[in-house]
Amino acid sequence: MGRVQGKVALVTGGASGIGLSISTLMAKEGAKVVIADFNESGAKEVAENIKKQGGEAAGVFLDAGEADSIQAAVDFTIEQYGTVTVLVNNVGLTNLNKDLDVLNVDLEEWDRLMDVNLKSVLLGSRFAIPHMIKAGGGSIINTASMAGFTGDSVRSASGASKAGVVNLTRYIAAQYGKEHIRCNGVAPGLILTPAAKKNMPPAVLDIFAKFNALPYHGEADDIGYTVLFLASDESKFITGQTIQVEGGHYIANPSISDFNDYLTKAKSN
Ligand SMILES: NC(=O)c1ccc[n+]([C@@H]2O[C@H](COP(=O)([O-])OP(=O)(O)OC[C@H]3O[C@@H](n4cnc5c(N)ncnc54)[C@H](O)[C@@H]3O)[C@@H](O)[C@H]2O)c1
Repeated sequence: MGRVQGKVALVTGGASGIGLSISTLMAKEGAKVVIADFNESGAKEVAENIKKQGGEAAGVFLDAGEADSIQAAVDFTIEQYGTVTVLVNNVGLTNLNKDLDVLNVDLEEWDRLMDVNLKSVLLGSRFAIPHMIKAGGGSIINTASMAGFTGDSVRSASGASKAGVVNLTRYIAAQYGKEHIRCNGVAPGLILTPAAKKNMPPAVLDIFAKFNALPYHGEADDIGYTVLFLASDESKFITGQTIQVEGGHYIANPSISDFNDYLTKAKSN
């Protein structure tokens, strides 16, 4: 029996990267999966691949910035499989050209990122929760980001939106726990999805590698397996938490490397 056997999962942004890993693992472990993505043909292709492997899945168009589209994806899930008991609010964007420091962040981009990254979590949950209550419970998992826990020189909007996701996760957990609905988040550090590999210059990857406690980069399945755990009943007493999956990048005092240099110099004097 699979780890999420009998559950019905709606995964947003499931056509590539982290969402693709989540959809694939969830189907492999027995869930019926709806992959909802802006890239409709990609979502349908993922569903076909899952079916070829013996799983159950369907793909559907989603624009996570539009309330009607989110409602339609939930409705599609109900039409296909009768309920939704796992919702993975995974879509999230940043924009390296417009999402800048506080003096320069483009305000239209600020609003768009708040809609796509944060309001989509509110709306997906709002539309799915009544079905979960009817089904006797469910699990909502939100893809946050380490950018929601730290400050940075740029990406003010996506960082603030992801911090919102972390706390909205607690609010949903607090409000619907008595209905047997859990809500948790996963906060990735840098994850080498195909898009990240394409967009990140090697010098930037080296900076991340240097500051990870572990000697390797994160991969989509590192997030996928965490989400699978949070979707399954193995995590039935965990709610309102956001699990940081970040290779130990943020665990040490950031001044540690300068401090080590200081100690080395002090010893040699
Ligand atoms: N990759 C990382 O290093 C990293 C780090 C921190 C957080 N995250 C978060 O993980 C999540 C997934 O990121 P990823 O790296 O897998 O991204 P990705 O770009 O590889 O995939 C995102 C998917 O979302 C879809 N999408 C984009 N806009 C959409 C919209 N408006 N409506 C519906 N679908 C849309 C895309 O078509 C794509 O299939 C995001 O929430 C992101 O913020 C990723």
